Amino acid sequence: MTTETLSKTILHENVTVGESGHLCFAGVDTVRLAEKYGTPLLLIDEDRIRARCREYKAAMEKYLPSGSEPLYASKALCFCEIYRIMKSEDMSTDIVSPGELATAVAAEFPTERAYFHGNNKTDADIRFAMESGVGYFIVDGAEELDRVDAEAGRLGIKQKILLRITPGIDPHTHAKISTGRVDSKFGSAIETGAALSITRAALCRQNVELCGFHCHIGSQIFETKPFADAADIMIGFIADVRRALGYEAGTLNLGGGFGVRYTEQDPEISIEKNIEIIAEHIKRACAEHGVAVPRILLEPGRSLVADAGMTVYTVGGVKEIPGFRSYVSVDGGMTDNPRYTLYQSRYTAVLANRADAPADFECTVGGRCCESGDLLGEGMMIARPERGDLLAVLVTGAYNYSMASNYNRVCRPPVVILRGGADRLGVRRETYRELLSCDI
Ligand code: LLP
Repeated sequence: MTTETLSKTILHENVTVGESGHLCFAGVDTVRLAEKYGTPLLLIDEDRIRARCREYKAAMEKYLPSGSEPLYASKALCFCEIYRIMKSEDMSTDIVSPGELATAVAAEFPTERAYFHGNNKTDADIRFAMESGVGYFIVDGAEELDRVDAEAGRLGIKQKILLRITPGIDPHTHAKISTGRVDSKFGSAIETGAALSITRAALCRQNVELCGFHCHIGSQIFETKPFADAADIMIGFIADVRRALGYEAGTLNLGGGFGVRYTEQDPEISIEKNIEIIAEHIKRACAEHGVAVPRILLEPGRSLVADAGMTVYTVGGVKEIPGFRSYVSVDGGMTDNPRYTLYQSRYTAVLANRADAPADFECTVGGRCCESGDLLGEGMMIARPERGDLLAVLVTGAYNYSMASNYNRVCRPPVVILRGGADRLGVRRETYRELLSCDI
Protein backbone atom coordinates (compact mmCIF):
# COMPACT_ATOMS: atom_id res chain seq x y z
CA MET A 1 0.00 0.00 0.00
CA THR A 2 1.38 3.46 -0.90
CA THR A 3 1.85 6.20 1.68
CA GLU A 4 -0.76 8.25 -0.15
CA THR A 5 -3.50 5.68 0.36
CA LEU A 6 -2.39 5.11 3.94
CA SER A 7 -2.74 8.79 4.78
CA LYS A 8 -6.34 8.63 3.61
CA THR A 9 -7.24 5.67 5.79
CA ILE A 10 -9.60 6.31 8.70
CA LEU A 11 -9.19 4.10 11.77
CA HIS A 12 -8.94 0.84 9.77
CA GLU A 13 -7.49 0.17 6.35
CA ASN A 14 -10.85 -0.82 4.84
CA VAL A 15 -12.13 2.75 5.46
CA THR A 16 -10.72 5.18 2.89
CA VAL A 17 -11.52 8.51 1.27
CA GLY A 18 -12.00 8.43 -2.50
CA GLU A 19 -11.02 11.10 -5.04
CA SER A 20 -14.52 12.59 -4.85
CA GLY A 21 -14.17 13.10 -1.09
CA HIS A 22 -16.66 10.29 -0.58
CA LEU A 23 -16.06 7.73 2.12
CA CYS A 24 -15.28 4.30 0.72
CA PHE A 25 -15.70 1.04 2.57
CA ALA A 26 -13.99 -2.11 1.33
CA GLY A 27 -13.15 -0.02 -1.72
CA VAL A 28 -16.81 0.85 -2.50
CA ASP A 29 -18.24 4.40 -2.51
CA THR A 30 -20.65 4.56 0.43
CA VAL A 31 -22.59 7.50 -1.07
CA ARG A 32 -23.45 5.36 -4.07
CA LEU A 33 -24.51 2.51 -1.76
CA ALA A 34 -26.73 4.85 0.26
CA GLU A 35 -28.39 6.01 -2.99
CA LYS A 36 -28.94 2.43 -4.08
CA TYR A 37 -30.20 0.91 -0.83
CA GLY A 38 -31.41 3.91 1.20
CA THR A 39 -30.50 4.66 4.82
CA PRO A 40 -29.98 3.59 7.51
CA LEU A 41 -27.84 0.93 5.99
CA LEU A 42 -25.43 -1.58 7.50
CA LEU A 43 -22.48 -2.45 5.29
CA ILE A 44 -20.41 -5.59 5.85
CA ASP A 45 -16.94 -6.14 4.40
CA GLU A 46 -16.89 -9.87 3.69
CA ASP A 47 -13.19 -10.09 2.89
CA ARG A 48 -12.38 -8.54 6.25
CA ILE A 49 -14.35 -11.24 8.07
CA ARG A 50 -12.68 -13.94 6.00
CA ALA A 51 -9.23 -12.48 6.68
CA ARG A 52 -9.89 -12.40 10.42
CA CYS A 53 -11.11 -16.01 10.42
CA ARG A 54 -7.90 -17.04 8.65
CA GLU A 55 -5.78 -15.05 11.08
CA TYR A 56 -7.34 -16.84 14.07
CA LYS A 57 -7.14 -20.26 12.44
CA ALA A 58 -3.53 -19.87 11.30
CA ALA A 59 -2.36 -18.60 14.70
CA MET A 60 -4.16 -21.33 16.60
CA GLU A 61 -2.76 -24.00 14.28
CA LYS A 62 0.72 -22.53 14.66
CA TYR A 63 0.88 -22.12 18.43
CA LEU A 64 -1.56 -24.64 19.88
CA PRO A 65 -2.11 -28.41 19.81
CA SER A 66 -3.84 -30.02 16.87
CA GLY A 67 -7.61 -29.70 16.88
CA SER A 68 -7.42 -26.23 18.44
CA GLU A 69 -9.68 -23.80 16.59
CA PRO A 70 -11.74 -20.61 16.80
CA LEU A 71 -15.54 -20.87 17.02
CA TYR A 72 -17.36 -17.86 15.64
CA ALA A 73 -19.57 -16.43 18.42
CA SER A 74 -22.53 -15.76 16.18
CA LYS A 75 -24.36 -13.57 18.71
CA ALA A 76 -22.10 -10.77 17.41
CA LEU A 77 -23.71 -10.77 13.95
CA CYS A 78 -26.27 -13.34 12.97
CA PHE A 79 -28.07 -13.97 9.69
CA CYS A 80 -27.94 -16.81 7.16
CA GLU A 81 -25.21 -15.42 4.94
CA ILE A 82 -22.81 -15.09 7.88
CA TYR A 83 -23.13 -18.80 8.61
CA ARG A 84 -22.52 -19.53 4.90
CA ILE A 85 -19.35 -17.41 5.02
CA MET A 86 -18.25 -19.22 8.20
CA LYS A 87 -18.95 -22.59 6.61
CA SER A 88 -16.87 -21.72 3.58
CA GLU A 89 -14.04 -20.59 5.89
CA ASP A 90 -14.21 -24.01 7.60
CA MET A 91 -15.15 -22.38 10.92
CA SER A 92 -17.03 -23.88 13.84
CA THR A 93 -19.57 -21.72 15.64
CA ASP A 94 -20.92 -20.79 19.05
CA ILE A 95 -24.70 -20.46 19.16
CA VAL A 96 -26.62 -19.27 22.15
CA SER A 97 -30.28 -19.72 21.33
CA PRO A 98 -32.62 -21.88 19.29
CA GLY A 99 -33.12 -18.87 17.01
CA GLU A 100 -29.42 -18.74 16.17
CA LEU A 101 -29.51 -22.50 15.67
CA ALA A 102 -32.52 -22.22 13.35
CA THR A 103 -30.62 -19.60 11.34
CA ALA A 104 -27.54 -21.84 11.13
CA VAL A 105 -29.72 -24.78 10.06
CA ALA A 106 -31.44 -22.63 7.40
CA ALA A 107 -27.98 -21.70 6.07
CA GLU A 108 -27.01 -25.39 5.99
CA PHE A 109 -24.22 -24.81 8.46
CA PRO A 110 -22.92 -28.21 9.67
CA THR A 111 -24.54 -28.45 13.10
CA GLU A 112 -21.97 -30.93 14.38
CA ARG A 113 -19.63 -27.92 14.38
CA ALA A 114 -21.97 -25.88 16.58
CA TYR A 115 -21.41 -25.39 20.32
CA PHE A 116 -24.67 -24.63 22.10
CA HIS A 117 -24.44 -22.07 24.90
CA GLY A 118 -26.98 -20.41 27.17
CA ASN A 119 -27.56 -20.26 30.89
CA ASN A 120 -31.19 -21.35 30.69
CA LYS A 121 -31.85 -23.77 27.89
CA THR A 122 -35.47 -24.86 28.04
CA ASP A 123 -36.47 -28.49 27.59
CA ALA A 124 -37.71 -27.57 24.11
CA ASP A 125 -34.36 -25.90 23.27
CA ILE A 126 -32.45 -28.99 24.41
CA ARG A 127 -34.62 -31.28 22.34
CA PHE A 128 -34.45 -29.03 19.24
CA ALA A 129 -30.66 -28.78 19.49
CA MET A 130 -30.19 -32.52 19.90
CA GLU A 131 -32.58 -33.33 17.09
CA SER A 132 -30.68 -30.84 14.91
CA GLY A 133 -27.43 -32.70 15.62
CA VAL A 134 -25.64 -29.95 17.58
CA GLY A 135 -22.07 -31.13 18.19
CA TYR A 136 -21.54 -29.89 21.73
CA PHE A 137 -23.62 -28.51 24.56
CA ILE A 138 -21.88 -26.06 26.88
CA VAL A 139 -23.68 -27.11 30.04
CA ASP A 140 -24.24 -24.21 32.38
CA GLY A 141 -25.48 -25.91 35.56
CA ALA A 142 -26.67 -29.03 37.35
CA GLU A 143 -30.32 -28.96 36.24
CA GLU A 144 -29.29 -28.60 32.61
CA LEU A 145 -26.90 -31.53 32.96
CA ASP A 146 -29.79 -33.72 34.11
CA ARG A 147 -32.04 -32.58 31.26
CA VAL A 148 -29.34 -33.05 28.61
CA ASP A 149 -28.60 -36.53 29.95
CA ALA A 150 -32.29 -37.47 29.98
CA GLU A 151 -32.96 -36.15 26.48
CA ALA A 152 -29.86 -37.85 25.04
CA GLY A 153 -31.03 -41.09 26.69
CA ARG A 154 -34.46 -40.70 25.09
CA LEU A 155 -32.86 -40.21 21.66
CA GLY A 156 -30.38 -43.04 22.26
CA ILE A 157 -27.31 -40.86 21.70
CA LYS A 158 -24.26 -39.90 23.72
CA GLN A 159 -24.16 -36.08 23.73
CA LYS A 160 -20.77 -34.40 23.85
CA ILE A 161 -20.60 -31.64 26.43
CA LEU A 162 -18.27 -29.06 27.92
CA LEU A 163 -18.99 -27.65 31.37
CA ARG A 164 -19.09 -23.90 31.78
CA ILE A 165 -16.89 -22.90 34.68
CA THR A 166 -16.55 -19.44 36.27
CA PRO A 167 -12.88 -18.91 37.02
CA GLY A 168 -13.40 -15.81 39.20
CA ILE A 169 -11.64 -13.30 36.93
CA ASP A 170 -12.54 -9.64 36.67
CA PRO A 171 -11.16 -8.39 33.33
CA HIS A 172 -11.94 -4.70 34.10
CA THR A 173 -14.24 -4.25 31.17
CA HIS A 174 -17.77 -2.81 31.33
CA ALA A 175 -19.62 -4.60 34.17
CA LYS A 176 -22.47 -5.64 31.87
CA ILE A 177 -20.11 -7.47 29.51
CA SER A 178 -17.91 -9.04 32.17
CA THR A 179 -18.99 -12.62 32.80
CA GLY A 180 -16.17 -14.60 34.41
CA ARG A 181 -16.61 -13.44 38.01
CA VAL A 182 -17.98 -15.66 40.78
CA ASP A 183 -20.98 -13.36 41.09
CA SER A 184 -22.34 -14.20 37.63
CA LYS A 185 -25.47 -15.86 36.30
CA PHE A 186 -23.24 -18.08 34.14
CA GLY A 187 -21.57 -21.37 34.92
CA SER A 188 -20.34 -23.19 38.00
CA ALA A 189 -17.75 -21.46 40.16
CA ILE A 190 -14.49 -23.13 41.12
CA GLU A 191 -14.32 -21.18 44.38
CA THR A 192 -17.64 -22.44 45.72
CA GLY A 193 -16.99 -26.10 44.89
CA ALA A 194 -19.84 -26.10 42.35
CA ALA A 195 -17.42 -26.72 39.46
CA LEU A 196 -15.96 -29.87 40.97
CA SER A 197 -19.34 -31.20 41.96
CA ILE A 198 -20.89 -30.74 38.49
CA THR A 199 -17.80 -32.42 36.97
CA ARG A 200 -18.30 -35.39 39.30
CA ALA A 201 -21.96 -35.53 38.31
CA ALA A 202 -21.20 -35.30 34.57
CA LEU A 203 -18.75 -38.19 34.79
CA CYS A 204 -21.47 -40.40 36.28
CA ARG A 205 -24.09 -39.69 33.58
CA GLN A 206 -24.65 -42.45 31.02
CA ASN A 207 -25.73 -40.37 28.06
CA VAL A 208 -23.22 -37.54 28.02
CA GLU A 209 -19.55 -37.53 27.13
CA LEU A 210 -17.64 -34.92 29.10
CA CYS A 211 -15.04 -33.47 26.70
CA GLY A 212 -13.70 -30.64 28.85
CA PHE A 213 -14.32 -27.20 30.26
CA HIS A 214 -15.31 -23.75 29.10
CA CYS A 215 -14.94 -20.27 30.51
CA HIS A 216 -15.59 -16.80 29.13
CA ILE A 217 -14.30 -13.86 31.13
CA GLY A 218 -15.73 -10.89 29.26
CA SER A 219 -15.63 -8.81 26.14
CA GLN A 220 -13.66 -5.89 24.61
CA ILE A 221 -10.48 -6.83 26.51
CA PHE A 222 -7.21 -5.40 25.18
CA GLU A 223 -4.67 -7.04 27.49
CA THR A 224 -3.55 -10.67 27.36
CA LYS A 225 -3.17 -10.92 31.14
CA PRO A 226 -6.83 -11.67 31.97
CA PHE A 227 -6.78 -14.52 29.43
CA ALA A 228 -3.48 -15.83 30.81
CA ASP A 229 -4.92 -15.63 34.34
CA ALA A 230 -8.06 -17.47 33.25
CA ALA A 231 -5.93 -20.14 31.53
CA ASP A 232 -3.87 -20.55 34.73
CA ILE A 233 -6.95 -21.04 36.85
CA MET A 234 -8.62 -23.39 34.40
CA ILE A 235 -5.48 -25.51 33.99
CA GLY A 236 -5.13 -25.61 37.77
CA PHE A 237 -8.72 -26.82 37.86
CA ILE A 238 -8.01 -29.50 35.24
CA ALA A 239 -5.16 -30.71 37.48
CA ASP A 240 -7.38 -30.67 40.60
CA VAL A 241 -10.07 -32.63 38.78
CA ARG A 242 -7.53 -35.22 37.69
CA ARG A 243 -6.34 -35.60 41.28
CA ALA A 244 -9.84 -35.79 42.73
CA LEU A 245 -11.68 -37.74 40.04
CA GLY A 246 -9.03 -39.30 37.81
CA TYR A 247 -10.39 -37.48 34.75
CA GLU A 248 -8.14 -35.30 32.55
CA ALA A 249 -9.98 -32.87 30.28
CA GLY A 250 -8.95 -32.98 26.62
CA THR A 251 -10.55 -29.67 25.62
CA LEU A 252 -10.32 -26.22 27.15
CA ASN A 253 -12.47 -23.47 25.67
CA LEU A 254 -11.32 -20.02 26.77
CA GLY A 255 -14.26 -18.09 25.30
CA GLY A 256 -14.14 -14.84 23.37
CA GLY A 257 -13.27 -11.30 24.30
CA PHE A 258 -10.46 -9.75 22.23
CA GLY A 259 -10.96 -5.98 22.01
CA VAL A 260 -11.34 -3.97 18.83
CA ARG A 261 -10.50 -0.41 17.88
CA TYR A 262 -13.59 1.80 17.83
CA THR A 263 -11.83 5.16 18.17
CA GLU A 264 -8.35 6.61 17.73
CA GLN A 265 -7.87 6.23 21.48
CA ASP A 266 -8.26 2.43 21.35
CA PRO A 267 -5.19 0.35 20.65
CA GLU A 268 -5.16 -2.12 17.78
CA ILE A 269 -4.37 -5.61 18.95
CA SER A 270 -2.65 -8.27 16.89
CA ILE A 271 -4.70 -11.45 16.99
CA GLU A 272 -1.68 -13.56 16.11
CA LYS A 273 0.51 -11.95 18.78
CA ASN A 274 -2.22 -12.33 21.43
CA ILE A 275 -2.66 -15.99 20.61
CA GLU A 276 1.10 -16.55 20.68
CA ILE A 277 1.35 -14.98 24.15
CA ILE A 278 -1.66 -16.84 25.54
CA ALA A 279 -0.42 -20.12 24.02
CA GLU A 280 2.99 -19.69 25.67
CA HIS A 281 1.24 -19.15 28.94
CA ILE A 282 -0.98 -22.20 28.52
CA LYS A 283 2.03 -24.41 27.78
CA ARG A 284 3.89 -23.11 30.82
CA ALA A 285 0.89 -23.61 33.11
CA CYS A 286 0.33 -27.15 31.79
CA ALA A 287 3.99 -28.00 32.42
CA GLU A 288 3.75 -26.61 35.96
CA HIS A 289 0.64 -28.62 36.72
CA GLY A 290 1.91 -31.72 34.94
CA VAL A 291 -1.07 -31.99 32.58
CA ALA A 292 -1.01 -32.48 28.81
CA VAL A 293 -1.75 -29.31 26.80
CA PRO A 294 -5.43 -29.67 25.91
CA ARG A 295 -7.05 -28.82 22.60
CA ILE A 296 -7.82 -25.11 22.92
CA LEU A 297 -10.94 -23.41 21.60
CA LEU A 298 -11.53 -19.66 21.42
CA GLU A 299 -14.88 -18.01 20.72
CA PRO A 300 -14.26 -14.69 19.00
CA GLY A 301 -17.30 -12.65 18.06
CA ARG A 302 -16.48 -8.95 18.08
CA SER A 303 -12.91 -9.31 16.81
CA LEU A 304 -14.10 -11.26 13.74
CA VAL A 305 -16.84 -8.90 12.59
CA ALA A 306 -16.73 -5.48 14.30
CA ASP A 307 -14.42 -3.61 11.95
CA ALA A 308 -16.08 -5.36 9.02
CA GLY A 309 -19.14 -3.19 9.63
CA MET A 310 -20.16 0.41 8.95
CA THR A 311 -23.58 2.04 9.32
CA VAL A 312 -24.64 4.88 7.03
CA TYR A 313 -27.38 7.29 8.13
CA THR A 314 -28.96 10.41 6.66
CA VAL A 315 -28.74 13.56 8.75
CA GLY A 316 -32.14 15.12 9.44
CA GLY A 317 -30.97 18.30 11.07
CA VAL A 318 -28.68 20.08 13.51
CA LYS A 319 -29.93 21.69 16.68
CA GLU A 320 -27.50 24.00 18.47
CA ILE A 321 -28.32 24.89 22.06
CA PRO A 322 -26.10 27.83 23.04
CA GLY A 323 -24.17 27.15 26.22
CA PHE A 324 -25.04 23.45 26.05
CA ARG A 325 -24.39 21.37 22.98
CA SER A 326 -25.26 20.62 19.39
CA TYR A 327 -27.45 17.69 18.47
CA VAL A 328 -27.23 16.02 15.07
CA SER A 329 -30.27 13.86 14.31
CA VAL A 330 -29.99 10.79 12.12
CA ASP A 331 -32.57 8.39 10.69
CA GLY A 332 -31.53 5.46 12.90
CA GLY A 333 -30.24 5.21 16.46
CA MET A 334 -30.67 2.87 19.40
CA THR A 335 -32.91 0.61 17.34
CA ASP A 336 -30.03 -0.36 15.03
CA ASN A 337 -27.18 0.34 17.49
CA PRO A 338 -28.10 0.29 21.20
CA ARG A 339 -24.51 0.15 22.40
CA TYR A 340 -24.07 3.77 23.45
CA THR A 341 -27.40 3.71 25.25
CA LEU A 342 -26.49 0.46 27.02
CA TYR A 343 -22.76 0.71 27.64
CA GLN A 344 -21.73 4.27 26.67
CA SER A 345 -19.61 2.66 23.95
CA ARG A 346 -17.69 5.18 21.92
CA TYR A 347 -17.67 5.26 18.13
CA THR A 348 -16.00 7.20 15.33
CA ALA A 349 -18.28 8.99 12.85
CA VAL A 350 -17.48 10.59 9.50
CA LEU A 351 -19.59 12.57 7.01
CA ALA A 352 -19.66 10.07 4.15
CA ASN A 353 -20.33 12.58 1.37
CA ARG A 354 -17.64 15.02 2.62
CA ALA A 355 -15.15 12.67 4.21
CA ASP A 356 -12.22 14.94 3.42
CA ALA A 357 -13.70 17.94 5.31
CA PRO A 358 -12.05 18.69 8.69
CA ALA A 359 -13.80 17.04 11.64
CA ASP A 360 -14.05 20.22 13.72
CA PHE A 361 -17.66 20.17 14.90
CA GLU A 362 -18.34 18.64 18.29
CA CYS A 363 -21.79 17.14 18.63
CA THR A 364 -24.11 14.62 20.17
CA VAL A 365 -25.56 12.28 17.58
CA GLY A 366 -29.16 11.39 18.37
CA GLY A 367 -31.48 8.80 16.91
CA ARG A 368 -35.15 9.06 16.05
CA CYS A 369 -36.71 7.29 19.01
CA CYS A 370 -38.93 9.06 21.46
CA GLU A 371 -36.39 8.68 24.25
CA SER A 372 -33.65 11.10 25.35
CA GLY A 373 -31.17 8.28 25.85
CA ASP A 374 -31.42 7.35 22.19
CA LEU A 375 -27.92 8.54 21.28
CA LEU A 376 -25.13 7.12 19.14
CA GLY A 377 -22.51 9.17 20.90
CA GLU A 378 -21.67 12.38 22.72
CA GLY A 379 -18.64 14.59 22.13
CA MET A 380 -18.29 13.19 18.61
CA MET A 381 -16.09 15.16 16.20
CA ILE A 382 -17.35 15.39 12.62
CA ALA A 383 -17.47 18.00 9.85
CA ARG A 384 -20.42 20.34 10.41
CA PRO A 385 -23.36 18.54 8.78
CA GLU A 386 -26.50 19.76 7.04
CA ARG A 387 -29.82 18.08 6.47
CA GLY A 388 -29.36 15.45 3.75
CA ASP A 389 -25.69 14.74 4.48
CA LEU A 390 -24.72 11.14 5.10
CA LEU A 391 -23.19 10.21 8.43
CA ALA A 392 -21.19 6.98 8.62
CA VAL A 393 -20.57 5.34 11.99
CA LEU A 394 -17.55 3.05 11.81
CA VAL A 395 -16.90 -0.38 13.33
CA THR A 396 -20.55 -1.40 13.70
CA GLY A 397 -20.26 -5.02 12.59
CA ALA A 398 -20.57 -6.54 16.06
CA TYR A 399 -23.56 -6.35 18.41
CA ASN A 400 -25.43 -3.82 16.27
CA TYR A 401 -27.63 -5.73 13.83
CA SER A 402 -27.81 -8.64 16.28
CA MET A 403 -29.06 -6.32 19.05
CA ALA A 404 -31.37 -4.25 16.84
CA SER A 405 -34.98 -3.81 17.95
CA ASN A 406 -38.28 -2.55 16.65
CA TYR A 407 -38.74 -0.04 19.47
CA ASN A 408 -41.10 2.73 18.34
CA ARG A 409 -42.01 0.36 15.49
CA VAL A 410 -38.84 1.26 13.63
CA CYS A 411 -37.96 -1.19 10.84
CA ARG A 412 -34.57 -2.86 10.94
CA PRO A 413 -32.06 -1.69 8.31
CA PRO A 414 -30.84 -3.85 5.46
CA VAL A 415 -27.43 -5.49 5.56
CA VAL A 416 -25.39 -5.12 2.39
CA ILE A 417 -22.35 -7.32 1.91
CA LEU A 418 -19.35 -5.98 0.02
CA ARG A 419 -16.85 -8.20 -1.68
CA GLY A 420 -14.31 -7.51 -4.41
CA GLY A 421 -15.94 -4.16 -5.22
CA ALA A 422 -19.41 -5.73 -5.64
CA ASP A 423 -22.40 -5.29 -3.32
CA ARG A 424 -25.24 -7.70 -2.54
CA LEU A 425 -28.03 -7.88 0.01
CA GLY A 426 -27.42 -10.10 3.04
CA VAL A 427 -30.67 -9.05 4.72
CA ARG A 428 -33.21 -6.79 3.06
CA ARG A 429 -34.86 -3.86 4.78
CA GLU A 430 -37.74 -4.82 7.04
CA THR A 431 -41.17 -3.67 5.86
CA TYR A 432 -44.22 -2.41 7.78
CA ARG A 433 -46.06 -5.54 6.66
CA GLU A 434 -43.37 -7.62 8.41
CA LEU A 435 -43.59 -5.43 11.49
CA LEU A 436 -47.27 -6.30 11.64
CA SER A 437 -46.89 -9.93 10.66
CA CYS A 438 -47.36 -11.37 14.16
CA ASP A 439 -50.15 -9.01 15.19
CA ILE A 440 -53.61 -10.61 15.33
N1 LLP B 1 -18.36 -16.74 24.19
C1 LLP B 1 -19.28 -16.47 25.13
C2 LLP B 1 -19.70 -17.52 26.04
C3 LLP B 1 -19.82 -15.19 25.21
O1 LLP B 1 -20.72 -14.93 26.16
C4 LLP B 1 -19.40 -14.19 24.31
C5 LLP B 1 -19.97 -12.85 24.37
C6 LLP B 1 -18.47 -14.53 23.33
C7 LLP B 1 -17.94 -15.80 23.31
C8 LLP B 1 -17.96 -13.54 22.31
O2 LLP B 1 -17.26 -12.50 22.89
P1 LLP B 1 -16.53 -11.40 21.98
O3 LLP B 1 -15.39 -12.07 21.28
O4 LLP B 1 -17.53 -10.89 21.01
O5 LLP B 1 -16.10 -10.37 22.95
N2 LLP B 1 -23.47 -6.95 23.69
C9 LLP B 1 -22.17 -6.64 24.26
C10 LLP B 1 -21.24 -7.81 24.24
C11 LLP B 1 -21.78 -8.98 25.00
C12 LLP B 1 -20.91 -10.17 24.85
C13 LLP B 1 -21.62 -11.37 25.33
N3 LLP B 1 -20.87 -12.56 25.21
C14 LLP B 1 -21.57 -5.47 23.49
O6 LLP B 1 -22.21 -4.95 22.59
O7 LLP B 1 -20.46 -5.03 23.81
